[in-house]
Amino acid sequence: MMASHNLASKGFAFLYHMPRVKPVDHWVYPFRALFSTHIVGDEPILVRDFIHSALYDPKHGYFSQRSRSVGVLERSIKFNQLEGRQAYMKHLDKIYKDSDISWFTPVELFKPWYAHGIAESILRTANLSVPLKIYEIGGGSGTCAKGIMDYIMLNAPPRIYNNMTYISVEISPSLAEKQRDTVGEVRSHLSKFRVECRDAADKSGWGEVEQQQCWVIMLEVLDNLPHDLIYAKDQVSPWMEVWVEKQKERGTLKELYKPLQDSLIKRCFEIVDFDNSQKTQNRVISKAQSVWSKKLLEVLHGVLPKMSLIASDFSYLPDVKVPGERAPLVSTKKDGSSSDYSSYLDAKGDADIFFPTDFLLLENIEHYCSGWQRPNKGESSKQGKKRRTIILDTSSFMEEFGLPSKTRTKDGYNPLLDDFKNTKFYLSVPTHNTK
Ligand SMILES: C[S@@+](CC[C@H](N)C(=O)[O-])C[C@H]1O[C@@H](n2cnc3c(N)ncnc32)[C@H](O)[C@@H]1O
Repeated sequence: MMASHNLASKGFAFLYHMPRVKPVDHWVYPFRALFSTHIVGDEPILVRDFIHSALYDPKHGYFSQRSRSVGVLERSIKFNQLEGRQAYMKHLDKIYKDSDISWFTPVELFKPWYAHGIAESILRTANLSVPLKIYEIGGGSGTCAKGIMDYIMLNAPPRIYNNMTYISVEISPSLAEKQRDTVGEVRSHLSKFRVECRDAADKSGWGEVEQQQCWVIMLEVLDNLPHDLIYAKDQVSPWMEVWVEKQKERGTLKELYKPLQDSLIKRCFEIVDFDNSQKTQNRVISKAQSVWSKKLLEVLHGVLPKMSLIASDFSYLPDVKVPGERAPLVSTKKDGSSSDYSSYLDAKGDADIFFPTDFLLLENIEHYCSGWQRPNKGESSKQGKKRRTIILDTSSFMEEFGLPSKTRTKDGYNPLLDDFKNTKFYLSVPTHNTK
């Protein structure tokens, strides 16, 4: 996503507002298309299952439609030839008008430099006496994979490149195919690269536990994970889990509230409760929204206990129309211009649904998933593996590992460093890996 517009006026304040979502009457929506009627059958479904279908249904889901979900720039932007911010904006405007893409992700806009920065961070921290193994989850068009492999081929000793493996785990069949094409532009990459088309949060796809050290990269994946929604009528009422049901007679979708009973939501609730108890009371969190990242991290720590993780995502989002805390942007594009829906229920395969990430909460969730900390106890577990984690602004990460001069315009303006203020990098390594 291009995150540069309207950000200057947005602070962090809205993260602390609106502890509860709007009452039920505001949440009734007309059907928009046949597809949304298919998402919900006769039985109600959890919000996370609704979002999962809207984004990943193999036929109609947003990410299954090859042409528009993840954009590829035909050629890299030559930042050094642009005068400054105005020229860059004009250039971007043209690129967006010429495509039916809602957002280009940073790895695309700043190719190949963004991926090269990530590759450098891996080379600088990895134990290079063992073969390098990299997993990428949700690799989109394959631009990151190709950029990383190019960089290692050109900058690391030949034995590192020759012995490396790069495994992409991609849920969308059309994007998996696109990744093969992108990486295949360099023939020698192909023997080291493979795509596994599956849901990374499904443990059964991973097979045996792997004890080898490895890297896991996730760029703008956490934001697209299906989230759950919990609702409370007021500050004293209990939290309820939200389901979506079809109103047959009116042809509308409607929210339905049930006492907390789903085991994934309940497990996540335990962590967030503990998280809250360590912090000041005015920091109210929409508690169940992170269940899917918990599921994914639980699975990853279970099968790849020695992984080092690099994730990049939005720390906040501007101008969100959907009510509620940590609510998503539901963004669509028609006739060359983007617009946002005011409900996630309006998404019908034509809209991206993406959430902001609370990186401190992510860190907490990860410590539980690695077994280092236990929910509700507030104490470290002796058996769990301690991890070293760091959260960096994108600009700090790129200044440390990238080549900022490559994304600088003639007058010194640097969109990668100056505009992407609402994205962060999360790095997490097992401590035995850092000695
Ligand atoms: C916003 S795109 C980001 C693509 C790319 N990382 C980038 O930055 O350009 C999200 C990607 O994650 C994939 N994805 C989402 N959930 C996934 C899951 N559970 N398992 C594997 N891939 C997933 C989507 O299909 C898509 O390729």
